[in-house]
Amino acid sequence: MENKKTYYITTPIYYPSDKLHIGHTYSTVAADAAARYKRLQGFDTFFLTGTDEHGQKIEDKAKEAGVTPKEYVDQIVAGIKDLWKLMNISNDKFIRTTDGYHEKAVQKIFQKMYDKGDIYKGYYEGLYCKPCESFWTETQAVGGVCPDCGRPVNPAREEAYFFRLSNYADRLVEYYESHPGFIEPQSRQNEMINNFIKPGLQDLCVSRSSFKWGIPVPVEPEHVIYVWLDALTNYITALGFGSEDDSLYRKFWPADVHLIGKDIIRFHTIYWPAFLMSLEEPLPEKVYGHGWVLLEGGKMSKSKGNVVDPVILAERYGVDALRYYLLREIAFGSDGVFSNENLINRINSDLANDLGNLLSRTVAMVEKYFGGTIPADRAAGDFDDALEAAAAQAKAQAEANLDALNFSVALTEIWKFVSRTNKYIDETAPWLLAKDPAQAPRLADVMYHLCESIRIISVLIAPFMPETAVKIRTQLGLAPVTDWAESGEFGKEATYTVQKGEIIFPRIDLEKELEALAQAQKAPENPLKEEIEGVAKIAYDDFAKVDLRVMKVLACEPVPKADKLLKLTLDDGTGAPRTVVSGIAKWYQPADLTGHSVIVVTNLEPRMLRGVESRGMVLSAEISKEEIKVLFADGIPAGSKLS
Ligand code: ME8
Ligand code: MG
Repeated sequence: MENKKTYYITTPIYYPSDKLHIGHTYSTVAADAAARYKRLQGFDTFFLTGTDEHGQKIEDKAKEAGVTPKEYVDQIVAGIKDLWKLMNISNDKFIRTTDGYHEKAVQKIFQKMYDKGDIYKGYYEGLYCKPCESFWTETQAVGGVCPDCGRPVNPAREEAYFFRLSNYADRLVEYYESHPGFIEPQSRQNEMINNFIKPGLQDLCVSRSSFKWGIPVPVEPEHVIYVWLDALTNYITALGFGSEDDSLYRKFWPADVHLIGKDIIRFHTIYWPAFLMSLEEPLPEKVYGHGWVLLEGGKMSKSKGNVVDPVILAERYGVDALRYYLLREIAFGSDGVFSNENLINRINSDLANDLGNLLSRTVAMVEKYFGGTIPADRAAGDFDDALEAAAAQAKAQAEANLDALNFSVALTEIWKFVSRTNKYIDETAPWLLAKDPAQAPRLADVMYHLCESIRIISVLIAPFMPETAVKIRTQLGLAPVTDWAESGEFGKEATYTVQKGEIIFPRIDLEKELEALAQAQKAPENPLKEEIEGVAKIAYDDFAKVDLRVMKVLACEPVPKADKLLKLTLDDGTGAPRTVVSGIAKWYQPADLTGHSVIVVTNLEPRMLRGVESRGMVLSAEISKEEIKVLFADGIPAGSKLS
């Protein structure tokens, strides 16, 4: 049997620290589209994603939450897995760096580098960026801030293990230069060489002893392995490297592409290749650093409270609309701006109008003119060749651009064909052909050309919009696509029996939806905040009318036949005792109050309560409907006025 070609693609493994947002979804959806494309092309494909669970950040967050680090990550990882399920991510494996097989393999990797002399023990002094878990030199941390994230760095010093990264500088440059396409976009290669390698690569600190949450260093378990050595090796441990069964490793490694965000290119094109060189293992074919999904105001950040939640969008518009938008809107490799308005506009124009209408018009016409089945008696005519040529062009362009990971260009090219097919309807004017019975064979052929075009479109969009591809094919009476090659076969189907289905992308009322969406995206209001904001404002003069004073409880007794009330005899500073009745008997015994000072509203109109005249009101706090606490003011002289 012929050996199938293999394809191995990875996403970054995500930190399970915060909720994943649209930017993380972007990385994963892109990798998924590439993986689905290669599968359809018949590649034996392995698509890996996962979570990067060790490090000080996680340890700190778990402590804050009052749980163990493992408990902390477990619940977040469960949410991440749900998100990928929702987004139809077709990963073949999900690796967690807390998986036992990974931890063991990382220790083996460390040991191997150590035995070889590539890891040695030394002393670390440098500037540490805690959020990035990176050490920097004075020259790198210009202005005392982390060159990656811009936050302040602090001097730190610890005994540590070092990887001889400096030994690999020449080999790295040599590798880049002899493997064009290893780093993409290409411009990043010069950045790596000029900014990091040329100034002189320092040996890399690969252990930490200031926290515990990590994989123990095999030769000194009080130290844990640096989180990036732990994390990067996931790409090979997931395939069984360093375990008893490394058959997947032997089958799939080296990776065809590590898809990552541009923020972590340095780790993937300097550290990772050097680690692999040390292990004497082959290097990945390609590291592709895509751009950022930005918001109109700049970067998404939790502290700014402008993190876009993919779940809300997928639930409102469908997973495929979101997948399409992300990969169409942003040129892969460049930054792009996400906005609700752009998203809805794209759904309306590209999906509802161009693609959705093409399908529904075609199916409706086949039903109307031919009762659902295109007759065998067909006649070719003008415009057909141009349409077929456009189909071939779309396929070629989709392929070239998918191979290059130019997702947005691939989609643009596919949509040119969608438009071209819509134009074919205008050119052939089926409604006119339908008026002349002699034109029936030509009308049949026009319908056939439309169905064939839509079938080809269903194949081309399948990597991007797997559910939509199935829906379209169901309406055309076809099984789900299994082979990319059928996108190149105009005339493949003998005929079509169509079946009208739901509108695949309903049009959205932009104005109304923008409002509703913004509402849905608002962080859930704190009810207390709402309550406090809802209280009517008063003028200062009104407040000043309330006379509040400290008074000492001289005596206290229950009010007969009133189980809620206590009668307090108070020293209000005037020398004459004051009587106040208070509904706090449920919470306080007389002895709890006697001798203590309380706060009283003195100028309430006197009231008769169960035969006792009450001159004022004792202030208390309502903790809940069930619990009241008196505000004590012990030590403050009776008669003192509050202001
Ligand atoms: O960096 N736009 O994990 P991470 C586009 N654990 N992509 C974005 C983005 C945005 N706004 N925000 C995040 C880590 N990303 C490490 C990786 S790999 C061995 C270890 C993407 O969860 C971007 O690709 O902080 C980033 O690199 C990735 O999410 C992972 O982010
Ligand atoms: Mg990051």
